[in-house]
Amino acid sequence: MNKFETVDNEKELERQYHYIDLLKNVVNHLKEIKQRNITACVETFGCQMNARDSEKISGILKSAGFEIIEDEKADLTIYNTCSVRDNANQKVYGRLGRLSTYKKANPEMKVVICGCMTQEEQVIDKLCQSYSFVDLIFGTHNIYRFAEYLFYVYEGIERSADPEIDVIKKGHTLISHWNETTVVCENLPKDRKYFYKSGVNIMFGCNNFCTYCIVPYVRGRERSREADEIIKEIEGLVKDGCVEIMLLGQNVNSYGKNLDNPISFSELLKRIEKIEGLERIRFMTSHPKDLSDDLIEVIKNSSKICHHIHLPLQSGSSRILKKMNRVYDKEKYLDLALKIRREIPDISITTDIIVGFPTETKEDVDDTIDVIKKVEFDNAFTFIYSIRTGTPAADMEQLDEEFVKEQFDRVLNAVQETAKKRVGLLEGQTLSALVEEVNKQDESLMTGRLSNNTIVHFKGTKDLIGKIINVKLNECKGFYYIGKIVE
Ligand code: 5AD
Ligand code: SF4
Repeated sequence: MNKFETVDNEKELERQYHYIDLLKNVVNHLKEIKQRNITACVETFGCQMNARDSEKISGILKSAGFEIIEDEKADLTIYNTCSVRDNANQKVYGRLGRLSTYKKANPEMKVVICGCMTQEEQVIDKLCQSYSFVDLIFGTHNIYRFAEYLFYVYEGIERSADPEIDVIKKGHTLISHWNETTVVCENLPKDRKYFYKSGVNIMFGCNNFCTYCIVPYVRGRERSREADEIIKEIEGLVKDGCVEIMLLGQNVNSYGKNLDNPISFSELLKRIEKIEGLERIRFMTSHPKDLSDDLIEVIKNSSKICHHIHLPLQSGSSRILKKMNRVYDKEKYLDLALKIRREIPDISITTDIIVGFPTETKEDVDDTIDVIKKVEFDNAFTFIYSIRTGTPAADMEQLDEEFVKEQFDRVLNAVQETAKKRVGLLEGQTLSALVEEVNKQDESLMTGRLSNNTIVHFKGTKDLIGKIINVKLNECKGFYYIGKIVE
């Protein structure tokens, strides 16, 4: 545990705004010397939670006067990393090689690494040893102190008599590593990527300890935000032009349990639903063990909650689910998913599946395929099991790679079949879509998203972005639609 458990949020906020001001002076000074803007680039790896964290990082940088650009040759480049699977870590190490070349060409450039990877001590050691050009490392718990850390970097501050300063210097790199926190400090500036939609953190961390998963170790124990704070944030977003929000948490169904005045996720949704001007509500991720009948009722009766639920299966084999510590078995998952289908027939159900968990046999994978066929997932993210050091599954006997690859292909085929079938069911219907962007391949087309998360492309103009319109779904092209606006 760290020593900041008792930090008062208001005091901390004031402190960080003070550092943003100090950083502003640094940036202004650099601007004068260089006679140009000082640029920063934030690269996000991983999930929606990280995407939201990057908006916080950019928000702080923008407030301090940096110009945010998308070029990693910027004056300051930040990698907000993911460590859920090993290939995510390898990708970051690969990209860091490139940053080192940029920094050689521009020695004044600053490089910052933060996020889930840097919660792991062995990663910090590796970065310090092999990537010693990195200027600053911090993790997931202390993002709200970013302005302060960055100010130290620019001013060459390494340590101080002030016990609040929680940094150490290893070689060239300034490091702040917290194992845990109970502090939620949310009211710093955020630089939202889309004006019409936004993620909203409702809780942080995870208490589930699925045996393959590193998240509880890098994101800490579950902490819910106060409902009033969440509502206030959403009201502010709506005032700012936001019509859709995505409530974010590793396990949103257990929201509110650890608050002084406990409140359920369904109750929270009912309160959010009442916010005038808000048109669409999404949430992610749901854990099958905590999904209540109450929640199904709330979705069913709501005009704002989107008809899409992401319900990670991980495996269809009760034996493997037990080894994964998922707390449900095949039958319980099937009962739940089929109940959701019965109650809300037009809902789309998507999932995550891991193939190759230690000891998994062909028969176990048969069970997974059986669930895929029975639930008919609208979409699924399939992953090959990746060993995460420090998790219980890392000590279990691992499977042969060739065997895993074969099983993975079987699962992928099954998923693609059901996804194709489900998506195609909407052909000919007219449904509402939120217009999100200009189509990347064809500029005469706009891209919209249906309530059930399906994508539709249609002829339209840029001014529609952020609006909810009706689209006739003329033609299904596999996993998306070509449609036409209906006035
Ligand atoms: N190996 C492979 N996939 C994993 N996931 C989490 N940990 C691992 C791992 N060690 C997957 C799960 C989770 C999704 C976000 O990532 O399916 O739901
Ligand atoms: Fe990881 Fe399981 Fe928590 Fe999801 S519920 S973040 S898979 S430990």
